[in-house]
Amino acid sequence: MARRKKIYEGKAKILYEGPEPGTIVQYFKDDATAFNAEKKAVIEGKGVLNNRLSEFFMTGLGQIGVPNHFIKRLNMREQLVRSVEIVPLEIIVRNYAAGTMSKRLGIDEGTQLPRPIVEYCYKDDSLGDPLVTEEHIAAFGWASQQDMDDILSLALRVNDFLSGVMMAVGIRLVDFKIEVGRVFDGDFQRLIVADEISPDSCRLWDIETGEKLDKDVFRRDLGDLKDAYTEVARRLGVMPKNAQPITKPTLIN
Ligand code: C5P
Repeated sequence: MARRKKIYEGKAKILYEGPEPGTIVQYFKDDATAFNAEKKAVIEGKGVLNNRLSEFFMTGLGQIGVPNHFIKRLNMREQLVRSVEIVPLEIIVRNYAAGTMSKRLGIDEGTQLPRPIVEYCYKDDSLGDPLVTEEHIAAFGWASQQDMDDILSLALRVNDFLSGVMMAVGIRLVDFKIEVGRVFDGDFQRLIVADEISPDSCRLWDIETGEKLDKDVFRRDLGDLKDAYTEVARRLGVMPKNAQPITKPTLIN
């Protein structure tokens, strides 16, 4: 069997050359990292869950006309995606204060923001993905003004979609990160949502209990990360075959 060509290995995924030009196979690893890989663990089954969840969110986004890289799922851990030229920005949308925003601005975690706030970080692990302004982005040529208009529109559409989907299953979308990439159609280029959308890149809190169902469970040692992600998948109806649903104790009075 021919060995396929590895294009890139990141903290949570490996990218291989796809079967057709312009395609890539995205493999989801079980590795969990936090604090720019200072904290590491292998969470068996995380890759399978994130492959399914990212497929679910990207497919839904495609159905409402938000362009993204997803083509099809290939197996438990791999999906075929369009090859893109990644814009070197992490685009963060926040609905409630948490994480670095709470720390930076001294706002209590969970405080509802007056409106969704979009932030940009420069994608560079060696610098710890620093927060940047649109001035930096324009001055250093990371994205044009037209790109920034498109990125803002994509980010807000993803936010509305994800917020609604999560609210329908009793989960609050606190914040999330997306990445976008350029694709070329003839002489034209456009931006599409790329990378992944999963509990690795979102903050998801149970609306009733406030229980965290995202990577903060790992970052802050709050319990079993796989249980949290399985619960998200179960509520959304995207349980992988063979996965055991988590049965919550029923209160009998
Ligand atoms: O850490 P911070 O509060 O800035 O994170 C905001 C959101 O972006 C969180 O949902 C987090 O999971 C996500 N994020 C990410 N990858 C990063 C930084 C943040 O997915 N490198």
